[in-house]
Amino acid sequence: MPAPIRVSPRVQGFSYAIRNIVVEAKKVEAAGRRVRYLNIGDPIAFGFRTPPHLIDAVERAMRDGHNGYTPSAGIESARVAVADEYVSRGMPVSPDRVVLTSGTSEGIELALGALADTGDEVLLPTPTYPLYTAVLAKLGARPVFYRTDPDRAWQPDLDDLKRLISSATRAIVLIDPNNPTGAVYPDATRRAIIELADRAGVPIIADEVYGDLCFDGPAALLGSLAPDAPIISFSSLSKAYVAPGWRGGWLAVGRSDRLNDALAAIKKLADGRLCSTGPMQYAIEAALTSDRTHQREFVRALRLRADITTERLNRIEGIRCVAPRAAFYVMPQVRLPPGTTDEDFVLGLLRSTGILCVYGSGFGSPATEGFFRSP
Ligand SMILES: Cc1ncc(COP(=O)(O)O)c(C=O)c1O
Repeated sequence: MPAPIRVSPRVQGFSYAIRNIVVEAKKVEAAGRRVRYLNIGDPIAFGFRTPPHLIDAVERAMRDGHNGYTPSAGIESARVAVADEYVSRGMPVSPDRVVLTSGTSEGIELALGALADTGDEVLLPTPTYPLYTAVLAKLGARPVFYRTDPDRAWQPDLDDLKRLISSATRAIVLIDPNNPTGAVYPDATRRAIIELADRAGVPIIADEVYGDLCFDGPAALLGSLAPDAPIISFSSLSKAYVAPGWRGGWLAVGRSDRLNDALAAIKKLADGRLCSTGPMQYAIEAALTSDRTHQREFVRALRLRADITTERLNRIEGIRCVAPRAAFYVMPQVRLPPGTTDEDFVLGLLRSTGILCVYGSGFGSPATEGFFRSP
């Protein structure tokens, strides 16, 4: 047989456990067992519905002929809507510092591509949302993990973070509210991290995709705490506007002149992919300038589910679970038999019950600590 076509070794390091694990679930399904897919953070899959006025906006855009490419940074009216939203929430940005992206995911990829070179370091929380490590693998950059502590409601360890900042650090990633832990960071912690970044001249990648899904009301934008700090904020329609499949997202680059080169680099990279999905850009404007009452009911339902999930998990001998404060997830810990890993546990659970969760090591937790993520 001729030799297989060679692929880039960088792909070896590209891993996204949330979807990789589906291969195992399909085998279990093929063997005749029904699988419950608790691996993804998709509100549609759990019975929530996209607000009709957003669907109308996309339909209208298509019928009105907005089916061509848009400018790479996105249509003006949606960028104005995003900028207005940030200004009204205390982070002053102008529309020319907003880029519309294919979900938060593409924004993250553009920003890391603009900031990190081969061998550079980016600070990530553990556990982390796995897209960050995957993108860094593709770039040949190095993830450096700062601890978040389950014994302190998954708050970040500031001493650890401070210790890890070096001359090779190109960005600090802050996922707040957090996936996979459901943690929300208090203002004092957020200010301390901003101060560390500001002093070191390192930008913060502020992943705020769950910001409107806190159980105690929307989180303040990180950039509102320090408008001149080097902060780039990311969000999308996927979670708080219940439209993950549309891939409608945005990033906003803080007003500090220190970020001008980063903004230019992000825009340069964005040119290469032409634009994000055009008709969905019209939904961004509709989402941010009109009725959001669906969020109240959505958050109430999420909180109820989180309370029931946490309470029931904590009732099981050998499992402990920190109560989440936002978003869709819990990150329980199971006492593992010696010599086994979180992946063994998750695969065992899948094969014996058909329930598919994601093993904690897929988010960067040590495999022997027994963490797993469940919605
Ligand atoms: C923390 C975090 N960031 C980014 C994303 C990607 O979201 P999007 O659909 O906006 O690309 C997710 C999706 O689950 C997430 O949990």
